[in-house]
Amino acid sequence: MSTPTLRTIFASRAARKVLALAATGAVVATGVVALSGTAAAATTLGASAAERGRYFGAAVAANHLGESAYVNTLNTEFNSVTPENEMKWDALEWSQGSFNFANADRIVNHAQGRGMSVRGHTLVWHQQLPGWVGGLAAAQLRTAMNNHITTVMRHYQGDIHSWDVVNEAFQDGNSGARRSSPFQDKLGNGFIEEAFRTARAADPNAKLCYNDYNTDGQNAKSNAVYAMVSDFKARGVPIDCVGFQSHFNPQSPVPSDYRANLQRFANLGVDVQITELDIEGSGTAQANNYRTVTEACLAVTRCTGITVWGIPDHYSWRASGTPLLFDRNYQKKAAYTAVLNALNGGQTDPPDDPPPTGDGCTATISTNQWQGGFVGTVRVTAGSAAITSWTATVTLPSGATIVGNWNSTRSANSGTVRFTNATHNGAVAAGQFTEFGYQGTGTGSGATVTCAA
Ligand code: XIL
Repeated sequence: MSTPTLRTIFASRAARKVLALAATGAVVATGVVALSGTAAAATTLGASAAERGRYFGAAVAANHLGESAYVNTLNTEFNSVTPENEMKWDALEWSQGSFNFANADRIVNHAQGRGMSVRGHTLVWHQQLPGWVGGLAAAQLRTAMNNHITTVMRHYQGDIHSWDVVNEAFQDGNSGARRSSPFQDKLGNGFIEEAFRTARAADPNAKLCYNDYNTDGQNAKSNAVYAMVSDFKARGVPIDCVGFQSHFNPQSPVPSDYRANLQRFANLGVDVQITELDIEGSGTAQANNYRTVTEACLAVTRCTGITVWGIPDHYSWRASGTPLLFDRNYQKKAAYTAVLNALNGGQTDPPDDPPPTGDGCTATISTNQWQGGFVGTVRVTAGSAAITSWTATVTLPSGATIVGNWNSTRSANSGTVRFTNATHNGAVAAGQFTEFGYQGTGTGSGATVTCAA
């Protein structure tokens, strides 16, 4: 019996939204320019992508939604969002059976208020998974997985265009094997199929994606995913899309067969989506890589959209690699222009990145070593703009143990230690410095430091 009860209808956010819109008459759509006759080149990522029948999204963090520059850029440029962390298992169901949707709802509400669509990320993943899940025996784990999928998808029924049902289930390297995880280890290979079948039953209208990284070109890992998708299609296991995370840097560059790889998956009868795009670098080189990726998506009919994994560089999970389209002052980088031109079908070379103005901080370290102990002094220097807070990350040699520190708070005693400013020394004027220190046992010389502000 599948007729929903009144309670389940009103438990879904979509139903509440329909009622709310009917009551106010408010329908908002941004990021999409209505065109008649010959299409003029659109001037934002979302509008340009929409002209090509695609979405252009960004990963969004709920805790930045109060910042006007962040929100303005989001609202102006993007027409899809992915919650960066707020829909992960640890965020939604930290304790078994107790769901907290508040932060994820904030993002979904924001998106819907601006006419943006939402990607759901992610239902079943071995990371950001609360400890209790790994502690369950197989039968209980199966129930918990299916309950998580069902409860979350029902809550967002009608709100999410595509869900990453399973994330990163395959190993890196040449084995093509599954990755060890509580799901894999206790439920076996069938867990992915079970997750997708449960997801289809929970929300028959959401597109169901498998999402992974290092699958962007043809290799053992992407071949294994390809074989799984092919098998699912042959056996009627519900799957609609494959997400390619596309986190690129010099060690993991855009593969030369990126487009061909997207195409071979599309040829299996699934949509493909670029789900977490970021490319470390700057200037023309970075811009050219972004252009290559954008053009690849445009060349594959079933590539339905691109999501970049953050908005300004300094909020990226890989901030030091400046991998995004906007700099820390929300200035458009060359990479932005390359993407926009590609979406608009143009060939124009992008201008170079804007000159850095608020380029954070730099740090240097000096160590005074004696037999069995040391004192480290770290100088944090602001760039060409004032900073209001800083984090200096010190990597200590093995065997060094910090026993005390001053003018800072520290995250650990050994290994990689993050020092953040004390209340009195977070603010540093442009070009000026402040210092903090730590004392330890063992050998502290050889420590290295990086700075972020
Ligand atoms: C990252 C987030 O960006 C970080 O804020 C978080 O600390 C760790 O996770 N693959 C994924 C994403 O599927 O969920 C990850 O996001 C990046 C790698």
